[in-house]
Amino acid sequence: MSRVLHRGSLLHFLDDPQKGLKESYQYFIDGALLVENGHVTAIGDAQQLIESLPSDTQIQEHKNALLVPGFVDTHIHYPQMDIIGAHGEQLLEWLDTYVFPVEAKFADIEYAQQVARRFLKELLRNGTTTALVFGTVHPQSVDAFFSEAQSLNLRMIAGKVMMDRNAPDNLKDTAESSYRDSKALIQRWHDRGRLRYAVTPRFAPTSTPEQLKAAGQLLREHPGVYLHTHMSENLNEVAWVEELFPHLDHYLHSYDDAGLLGRRSVFAHCVHLSEVEWQRMAETQSNIAFCPTSNLFLGSGLFPLAKAESCGVNVGLGTDIGAGTSFSLLETMDAAYKVQQLQGHSLTPFKSFYLATLGGARTLDLESKIGNFIPGKEADFLVLDLAATPLLEQRMQHCEDLFETLFVLSTLGDDRCIRESWIMGECKHRRDDSALSEPQ
Ligand code: GUN
Ligand code: ZN
Repeated sequence: MSRVLHRGSLLHFLDDPQKGLKESYQYFIDGALLVENGHVTAIGDAQQLIESLPSDTQIQEHKNALLVPGFVDTHIHYPQMDIIGAHGEQLLEWLDTYVFPVEAKFADIEYAQQVARRFLKELLRNGTTTALVFGTVHPQSVDAFFSEAQSLNLRMIAGKVMMDRNAPDNLKDTAESSYRDSKALIQRWHDRGRLRYAVTPRFAPTSTPEQLKAAGQLLREHPGVYLHTHMSENLNEVAWVEELFPHLDHYLHSYDDAGLLGRRSVFAHCVHLSEVEWQRMAETQSNIAFCPTSNLFLGSGLFPLAKAESCGVNVGLGTDIGAGTSFSLLETMDAAYKVQQLQGHSLTPFKSFYLATLGGARTLDLESKIGNFIPGKEADFLVLDLAATPLLEQRMQHCEDLFETLFVLSTLGDDRCIRESWIMGECKHRRDDSALSEPQ
């Protein structure tokens, strides 16, 4: 039996701030989080909580820090970490020029293991404790990813890409083989410890209708697995889907026809949806991963978050590495703010921190496990350093309330703000301060 009380400023969300700010979060300036056997068992004011506990309870003090639930990245590609920052193309040319060549390397399981290890370390360095992750078409890319995630005891969702057309031959499967390989991976990994499986057709242009149907069959045969894909990211992509599926009304129809919409379905981007598509997303309780650094980098467009809110469609934040340009959800919040500014909306920092924590957990239907500090939840949390850089330290002195503190953190913050990442009550990343010290 392990019992540790973490003392410091604490913030977590109980609901979407949109529904009423006051009731949506709890903030304790001198707070405490009690963690027993990897789970949260109490949260509150430090003085009160300490008085109620046995005197031998171990106390960890976190000075000049803010404790928040671990960040949730609702869309990311682990095989693309080595092509971040590839210059000059929009989506379809970028896939051909940079993505397909790097994904071909994952036929080699040792290469996949090496990248998976570096990738998960980078997630923890950035405070991401849960993610919905694309592998490649190779089943071994998913075996490598899940083995590494399991050894770190991380809550992760991932899947093998299904892709049977419009891709290089060495990256194509078939409707039949993708069904068989995905099924075997589901049996091997889904609900094993903290891991879950996502059926992962890349996007409609690279799957035949038969393959999308096979994806639908997998979902029906394995209730509880996820669906993870891309939709309406780029206007040329949307036009291509119209050509490839001339008998259908719109892009979303290609997925709907195959039975791919639902509460555990996550569609990355959705920048260019029509009114009918928005309504169908809402009706089916399908989810969207909003990936602002990616949408800006590939020149895809501005995601209409206000539209998603007005339609009642659930949204989480995604980095979309390697089209996205940062692993950091703090930097992603910064980009999300700017994308909303360009559309005449002012994203509040409360909403941003909600999206990166409880909102992300809801998008992944993991609210009963993670996302906030309600007793019973798994103790994945971050120690954010509010004085991580000289500029941040100085700027924080001019912040007069929590709103300003969070906004400055989202504007100036990055991986340097992640002092520690804790997984199920164990510290799995501690910032190496030697790397930050001044050169001699
Ligand atoms: N659409 C289809 N594949 C991809 C991908 O790998 N990245 C992004 N951003 N969009 C896609
Ligand atoms: Zn993507």
